Amino acid sequence: MTKIKLGIVGIGNMGSYHAQNITGGKCPDLELAAVADINPERIEWAKATFPEQVKYFSTAEEMFDSGRIEACIISVPHYYHAKYAIECMKRGIHVMVEKPAGVYTKQVREMNEESDKHPEVVFGMMFNQRTNHIYRKMRELVQSGEYGGIRRTNWIITDWYRPQAYYDSGDWRATWSGEGGGVLLNQCPHQLDLWQWICGMPKTVESHLSYGRWHDIEVEDDVTTYVEYPNGATGVFVTSTGDAHGTNRFEIQLDKAKIVAENDSLSVLEYDMTEQQFSKENKIPFATVPAHSVQVVTDGLNEQHIGVLNAWAGAILRGEPLVAKGTEGINGLTISNAMHLSDWLGKKVSIPFDEELFYNELMKRVAVSRRKETGKSVFADTSGTYGGNK
Ligand SMILES: NC(=O)c1ccc[n+]([C@@H]2O[C@H](COP(=O)([O-])OP(=O)(O)OC[C@H]3O[C@@H](n4cnc5c(N)ncnc54)[C@H](O)[C@@H]3O)[C@@H](O)[C@H]2O)c1
Repeated sequence: MTKIKLGIVGIGNMGSYHAQNITGGKCPDLELAAVADINPERIEWAKATFPEQVKYFSTAEEMFDSGRIEACIISVPHYYHAKYAIECMKRGIHVMVEKPAGVYTKQVREMNEESDKHPEVVFGMMFNQRTNHIYRKMRELVQSGEYGGIRRTNWIITDWYRPQAYYDSGDWRATWSGEGGGVLLNQCPHQLDLWQWICGMPKTVESHLSYGRWHDIEVEDDVTTYVEYPNGATGVFVTSTGDAHGTNRFEIQLDKAKIVAENDSLSVLEYDMTEQQFSKENKIPFATVPAHSVQVVTDGLNEQHIGVLNAWAGAILRGEPLVAKGTEGINGLTISNAMHLSDWLGKKVSIPFDEELFYNELMKRVAVSRRKETGKSVFADTSGTYGGNK
């Protein structure tokens, strides 16, 4: 069987995880052929870890030009995602971009435009949480229309606790110049993607962010957002890396059901009739809509990163569907950028917003960014941190 010759740019925490899954035989269509990283220590580590045939490069461009790779995973800090994805597309190299799609939508729009010019390049986004059976089922239930329209969405995702040591583990982390944001750019791209994947895009965003509230960092580590959808529904999104024992509860109220994902399980309370019908017909002042719990059957699958990579390889070799098309990465980032912009301007922001204004506001913060000068890069044991339902 022909295997796809794969390169990885950035062999840090995430790149190593992908590389180990591939060399460990979990992605049978992919063969690790090359690795590029600007940090010589990471290259030395990789040489000692991976099979002899893997080739090493000190820059991404050298690897792209080497002719050794047919496909590439981009797992460097976010600012470089779009740049390297575009470089791959121009060379006909299939590309899988780590989340977030980029830091600002203007940059990601350019990446998507380049993708449109190269239909032969299979462009995927590492939205591994889309493989989770709970979120797939939520989407199926909401989008089937059987429960009517969405009335309210609430996601409190505060179980991203990170101590200061996490922020001190890399000089790019939690800086405007290195990362372009905090919890919204690093931890929450998955939820922001799922939120829009399941419930659709909001039309307005009003957000309150706190910067370095719980940590010695310059970017946001606490967020409360209110959104409005085109059908008049509303939503709230709350996140933080400061709650020691936080919560992950995603609740959707529809005309005829309440759907809740919490603690790795999904519950559906189905109403016997729509709330509108009940309210119109019922004559008892304090009555409520009769409802019953539904036993939800899912396929139980939660393949995470391996599932995304195997689907991508299947798309390249056999035209199979991707878990997430690369061009869809802009949606969650649009919400993320709108959250920042709303807080920076102190007002409600409509989508689409002024991307040039966002970029200029971001660059003002980058200009005074106190990028840590430690040059430090600590490679942490990340096992168990990338799965589950967050
Ligand atoms: N999908 C997920 O579950 C998930 C989880 C963690 C991280 N990520 C994403 O992966 C990306 C990397 O995060 P990480 O935690 O691995 O960071 P990291 O700091 O551990 O690793 C980044 C690596 O990229 C290298 N690098 C930096 N700039 C480079 C360049 N210009 N060219 C080549 N190499 C370069 C660094 O030397 C380092 O080895 C981020 O965008 C992050 O959001 C995704």
